[in-house]
This record gives sequence, C-alpha cells and structure tokens, in this order.
Amino acid sequence: MRDASPQTVYLKDYTPPEYLIDQIELHFELDEQRTRVQARMNVRRNPHSSADSVALKLWGEELQLLSIAIDGRPLQENEFVVGDEALIVHEAPQDRPFEILIENLIDPQANTALEGLYLSSSMLCTQCEAQGFRKITWFLDRPDVMSRFKTTLVADKAKYPVLLSNGNKTGSGELENNRHWVSWEDPFAKPCYLFALVAGQLACVADQFVTMSGRRIDLQIFVEQHNVDKCGHAIQSLKNAMRWDEQTYGLEYDLDLYMIVAVDHFNMGAMENKGLNVFNTKFVLARPDTATDSDYEHIEGVIGHEYFHNWSGNRVTCRDWFQLSLKEGFTVFRDQQFSGDMTSPAVKRIEDVNALRTRQFAEDAGPLAHPVRPEAYIEINNFYTLTVYEKGAEVVRMLHTLLGAAGFRMGCDLYFQRHDGQAVTCEDFVKALEDANGVELGQFRRWYSQAGTPVVTVEQDYDAANGRLQLTLRQSCPPTPNQPVKQPLHIPVKLGLLNADGSPATFEFAGQPHTEVTLDLTAAEQSFNFGNLAGKPVVSLLRGFSAPVTLQMPRSLDELAFLLSHDSDTFNRWEAGQQLATQAIFQLIDSIELGRPLQLEPIVVDAYRRVLADAGGDLSYQALLLALPEESYLSGQMPVIDVEAVHQAREFVKKTLAENLAEQFLELYRQYHRDESGCFDAGAVGRRRLKNACLSYLCKLETPDSHRLAEQQFRAARNMTDQISALAAIVNSRHPDQDDCLDSFYRQWQQEALVIDKWFTLQATSSMPNTFAKVQNLMRHPAFDMKTPNRVRALVGAFSQSNPLHFHAANGEGYRFLADRVIELNALNPQIASRMVSGLAQWRRYDANRQSLMKQELQRIVATDHLSKDVYEIASKSLA
Ligand code: TRP
Ligand code: ZN
Repeated sequence: MRDASPQTVYLKDYTPPEYLIDQIELHFELDEQRTRVQARMNVRRNPHSSADSVALKLWGEELQLLSIAIDGRPLQENEFVVGDEALIVHEAPQDRPFEILIENLIDPQANTALEGLYLSSSMLCTQCEAQGFRKITWFLDRPDVMSRFKTTLVADKAKYPVLLSNGNKTGSGELENNRHWVSWEDPFAKPCYLFALVAGQLACVADQFVTMSGRRIDLQIFVEQHNVDKCGHAIQSLKNAMRWDEQTYGLEYDLDLYMIVAVDHFNMGAMENKGLNVFNTKFVLARPDTATDSDYEHIEGVIGHEYFHNWSGNRVTCRDWFQLSLKEGFTVFRDQQFSGDMTSPAVKRIEDVNALRTRQFAEDAGPLAHPVRPEAYIEINNFYTLTVYEKGAEVVRMLHTLLGAAGFRMGCDLYFQRHDGQAVTCEDFVKALEDANGVELGQFRRWYSQAGTPVVTVEQDYDAANGRLQLTLRQSCPPTPNQPVKQPLHIPVKLGLLNADGSPATFEFAGQPHTEVTLDLTAAEQSFNFGNLAGKPVVSLLRGFSAPVTLQMPRSLDELAFLLSHDSDTFNRWEAGQQLATQAIFQLIDSIELGRPLQLEPIVVDAYRRVLADAGGDLSYQALLLALPEESYLSGQMPVIDVEAVHQAREFVKKTLAENLAEQFLELYRQYHRDESGCFDAGAVGRRRLKNACLSYLCKLETPDSHRLAEQQFRAARNMTDQISALAAIVNSRHPDQDDCLDSFYRQWQQEALVIDKWFTLQATSSMPNTFAKVQNLMRHPAFDMKTPNRVRALVGAFSQSNPLHFHAANGEGYRFLADRVIELNALNPQIASRMVSGLAQWRRYDANRQSLMKQELQRIVATDHLSKDVYEIASKSLA
C-alpha cells in the first residue's frame, strides 16, 4: 500500500509558469556522501502568467536545506516552508526581479534510483530528465522554464581529475587540500532537465569535426581508462550524424565542444544534456571481439538520436511533459532515417516495423494504452514508452509520407526557425508543417490524441470486362482505457499492383497513370478505383508499412508465396513471407489444440527454398526473409495466448524447414562463413547475418554434425557476432557441451561487463527445460547486482520479457519470481522496478489459470508498503 494516494497530473490543467528563472549559477562541492550545492537564481514574475498568488513554489526532493536568502537577506523560519516535494516562499517580491540563494546538501552514494546526482562505479554523474534536477536543488523544475546556466565544480583532484558540465569551459584552478575547480558556462538558455555534470577519473578520446559553415568542433568521449580502445565506432557515428543532419535537415552544431560520457549505471539508453551527453556504456563501447554487429548498429542509432536532439529537443524543447513525443517521436524518426541511410533503408525499415508490431502494438492493445500525447500521468517516467517513442516516430513518418520529402523539409525548416529557443507543443509542430506547405492536417491530428492500433480491412472487386479494380477499405479502432469510442483517422495507404507474371502493373488512378500511389483513407469506409488493367492484379497494400495499423487482408498461401517472390516493395516482400509463415504456424497451432499430427504445407518449404536460392544479393535482407515471426508477434494475434502451442508450432516449422532444406542451409553457411576479425562493414555484416541464420536452423537438427559446426564456430570466433550466435545456437539446443561452452565464455569475458550481460541474457532466454532453475541460480551469481540496471535487464528483464515459454510456466513460478524482484527493486530504483512490471501487464491475454496467477502477483505488488509512484501507477493501471 502507498503511504498517501498519489496525484494525477492532467494536460488540461496546464498553465504557464508564474515565475521565470533567467539565470542560475551553480556551485558544487562534490563529495560521495555530502555534496554541497549552492544555487544563485535570478527570478522574476512571468508576464504571461495570469496567476495572482504571491507565493513561490520551488520543486525539491531528498534535499537537506542549509540556507535560503532573497537578495542577500536570509529568510526567517516563518517566511517559507519545506515539504517532501517542494519549498514554498510565502511572499516573493512582485515588483522587481530578485535573487534567491539556496544552499543544500545531497548524498550521491545513497542514490540508487540513479536520478539527480549519483555515483556510478567511481564517477559522479547526473540524470535530470524528466524531473531529476529537483533532487539536486530546489527549482522551477518544468521544461518551459529556460535558464542560462553557469556551473562551478569543486572536488578532490586525485579522485575527480575530470570535472565536466554543459557548454564551454571558462576557467579552472587549484585549491588547498588537493582540491581543484573548473567552471562552465552554457550560452544557450535551457530547461533544467538538460543540465548535467560529471566528475571522475576519465580518459578522453578526442577528435574534431568541421561544420558546413567551417567551424571546428572538438569532439570528446570520456570513458574509464580500460575502455579507450572501444570508442572508435562511437566517434565515427557521431561524425556521421553531424554530417547527416547538415545534409538532410540543414542543421549545424552550435557549441564549440561536444562531449559524451559513458557510465555503467544508467536507467535508460542515453541522455541529450546540452553539450554533455551521458550514455549507458552499452551504447558507446564497441570492439569487434566484444560487440556484435547489432550492438554496432544500436550505437550508431543512439549516438545519432542524442545528437539530433540538439535541435529536436534542445534548441526547440517541450512546453510540458505531455508533449514528450514532440522531441522523442521526431528524434526517433530522425535516427531511423539516419541509420537507414548509413546501412540499408530496406533492412532498417523491417527491423523498426518488426519491433513496433511485436512490442508497441501489445502496449496499445493492453491496459497501459495511451495516446502519443498522453492526457494524464501519475509518474512521468512511466511515459517514456514505446507509444511515445516508436508510434510517435510513425506519426512523424506519416507526415513525411503525406507531404513528401521536400514538403516535410520545408515544414521542419519553418518549425526550427519559428520556434528556436522556445518550449512548444505537438500542435506547434503540425502547424509549422501545415503553414509551410499550405495544407490542412486537421483530421491527422487525431493520431496524437487517440490511442489504440487501428484495424484496416480490405475488400476487392475486380471487373474483368472493364479492366477495373475497386478496393473498399474500412477502418476501426478498438476501445482503449478512457477512450471507448474512436473517430476515423487519416491513414496514408501506399499501394502498388502486380501483373500475373510478377511485374509491376501500370494502372490508372484519379485520371492519371501510376505504378504506385498513396491513398488517403479518411473515412470509416472508402472505395478506391483503379483502371486500365490488363488482367486481375495482385494487390500490394500498405507498402513500406505506410501507417501503424493492423492490415487484415485474407490471402491464400499461393498469393503470399507469389508476393514473396515478386513484390518490388522490399517491405511487403518480407511481409508476405511473414504472413506465409504466420498462417502456417496458426494451422499447426490448430492441429496441436485438436491433437492432430503436425504437417507443414509444402508450399511453405518451397517458398523458403526459393529465398535460400536467391534474394537479390542483399545478404542482411535475405537473413530477414529467413527469420520466422517471433513468438511474441504470433501471440499478439491470438484471442487467448497459448505460449506452449505457439512455441511448439514455431519450433516445428523451424525444424521441418531445417530438415527439408538442410543441404541449402549448409551450403549457404559454408559459402559465407569466414574466419574474420569482425570489421563493421555492410558486406561482412550481411555475410555474418545470413550464415548465422543458417546455423540457427541447422542446430534444430540436433545432429552431432550440427552440434560440431556450432561448437567449432564458437571456439574459433574472432568476433562477438559469431561467438554469441554460435553460443545461442548451442544454448538453445541439446548440445552436450553447453555448460562447458558457457563456462569458458564466462572465463574469457569476466572483465567485460557488457559481454557478461549477454551471458546472463542467453541463459535467461533459453527455451531448454531447466531455464527457470538456472535463472534463480544466476540471481545468486557473484556477478549479479540488483543496483546495476543493465544487469537487471539482462537477467530479470530478459527472462520476463523475452522468454514467454518459461516466464509463463503454468504453475506461476515465473510470475512469483518477477513480483519478488519488482518489490525488491521498488526500494532501490523505482524506474527500473516499474519497467519490470510490464511482464505482468498483459495478464488478460492468457487463460483463466494464468490470469488469476498474474493478477494475484500484481495485487501483491500493489499491496506493498512504501510503493513508489512509478510501480503503483503501472501495477494499479494493469489491474484496472
Ligand atoms: N531523453 C532520453 C532519450 O534520448 C531519455 C532518457 C534518458 C530518460 N534517461 C532518462 C528518460 C531517464 C527518463 C529518465 O530518449
Ligand atoms: Zn530521445
């Protein structure tokens, strides 16, 4: 039970700040347990506020006040009050700007929530988004209050030789007692969530970038000494991102220095603090022998993401936290475009859609569904969601589709020019795009306010005599919490038609010849006509996944196999293969449930045989075509999820394909397997992806030959992609040397935290029978640590979110285990605890037995003493 019932914050209650703080000078005397903070703030009333109270409320939590003065006069006890969440000055000067000087103490070592100032390994660092600054000092902690920051850091010179904050370094010097100081000044006004400081024994990897206007920027990555050999890829990614944003959006970097610090303890991926990004080590450090190809890709994506925030987030920021997708959806869209341009747009799009459909669609269909722009929250940290980030990016992508690349760019130019230095709303973004293009996007705005994944159905009517096709599209959207009735959305539906020989058809639409069109589906039901057809075409709909919807279009296995062979749209070609496999798997699930023998349709085997023979030369794409839909994606399509049947049916398909196509898998494996050190270039990445996809099929054969193949690759690998892929194949099979391989991997990598995370995850996600017992043992492993989020995610997160078979064990042991961990984490790190609850949130999707077991655990969590707002909100909304 919570100590007090928590407050809900509503978007409709937004009012402008009553006061503004134009400038703040911060002075830190850094110490692990007693950091002394002095904040000198220039405050004035906000001329745009109509409020008339004379009180001044400053947010602050877990702070110890030492002194408070206004314009140099210390306040008397009766002039202010300090509570758990805020400090209120009863009567602030109204007739003039004034200065408040506050001194307080904080304890970074006790801060296991990793919000505010905390200790990570031996360095001190901060995390202020969303509302962590209030754990540093009392302040108007809201993003529409923007201030110029000057910061002085004082610390022991031996322990903290490097002292960093936002902006440019303005001075430094020595002090007595082996202490020293460094001063920083950020010339750009910013909300306090973008403040950062870092102190520690850090090595610096430096480079330079010359901007499009010829300015020379210093780039610096700070890491612990033993990691300096793992920064090359991050630096290269940063330079690529800086160039790409100039070329694609015309946006240039604005300070003389760009710093990135990598820390071991971090609640999320990374943070875009102005001029001083703080990153989870996972998204900085890479060396071919320690990081996989997909780690390299994620690093490139996250480095790009945080860099792009400098404009979409920092120069133009959010008015309030309900507008979070303004910066996150837009910046994810930008990082997706960037990653696509750096590697392969086709492959990147498939990966992004796959993630969206397996994870965000589930969120949107469950008890935690909320609009891209939420309307209410208890704890804002709970709204850094797949919906705000990934669906938000899809909404921006649809705007890009509707306006075209050039129109979208004009809109963005206007947005950045009009709102530079301001804190704005999603509405301001859409308005800028409208104004720049002279269009009206009224109905489109519903994507920001309406939750849930729309369903689009299709009816085809072909008139052979006149060579005409009529498509009738219908849209609907299921109810979500607090939104029982939905309005039709403006859905861009990209379409192409294929001739009977597989070639693209030219057709007439709206009086013009086309080979591809984007339909504007705006009504609940709408018909579209296509003429001038030589014969009945095969329809390729929702190309490139042009809208985040579920498309329901009944197709035969033959038609899907045809599209898999011929569709010129790379996304829809892959999608056809996914649908083909999905249908085959669901047929098998029916057989399992009816107790019938299992048999795979020959047409499926033939389709995969053709994919193995040739997929047009892009090996990464070929590997994606070979990947079967994930269990979680399949489960999302079942009325009542049957984890065992899904697993069994999917495994059966994989094994049957392996048996029927063993020679082809082996041949491709041999063709592309090299003993290579693992450089990150498109050719090598493609080879590894494809051959490792083949290896994972071959291991399903469980033959001594296939076991030997995997073990050889594991022992000989000189890059992490090959080593971990082989180990995964071993761990997910009945390989006799499994334990020995796991032990030797551990011994080899015990000094590399990020590799040991992989070791935990592999075991936590194994489908083999004794997995739960192993997970329990791993909790007691000396390398496990509940205070390190990456470790918790690697074990507890991976087991509960990526091992449906064992997490959903019918006896409820997985659920009990997770609830115990959530309760432990609640006291240490509410943000991480709350993220772990998501494993239980989907309880309504399972059978009655599992429902009641999961519900019971959620109820046990809600009844816990001293429950954080974070966990309370997620667990109670899951039960509602
Ligand atoms: N703004 C960060 C991003 O790039 C997200 C983030 C990092 C964050 N750390 C956080 C959000 C802590 C909440 C709490 O997406
Ligand atoms: Zn972001």
